[in-house]
Amino acid sequence: MSPTDPAPRAGDARSGPPAASIVACPDGPLLVRGEFEVVTPDGEALPRTRRTVALCRCGASVLKPYCDGSHKLIGFKTEPPAP
Ligand code: FES
Repeated sequence: MSPTDPAPRAGDARSGPPAASIVACPDGPLLVRGEFEVVTPDGEALPRTRRTVALCRCGASVLKPYCDGSHKLIGFKTEPPAP
């Protein structure tokens, strides 16, 4: 894939599986799996050693942007999915 190729879209049979997927964990982090980069506001790619990364969405992690489990300590609750 070149930098000018459009990103694969979900359901596009020609592109195969998406390059990455994101799962919003109930009362917890966003789990990102696949091929992606986590980039600082300055554009620097953060080192990555795992195929799956948990990103904090509660705001309490001391390892931001990564989840450190603090969401459990603060009782973080997400909204249930809309019907
Ligand atoms: S979501 Fe886990 S520490 Fe914030």
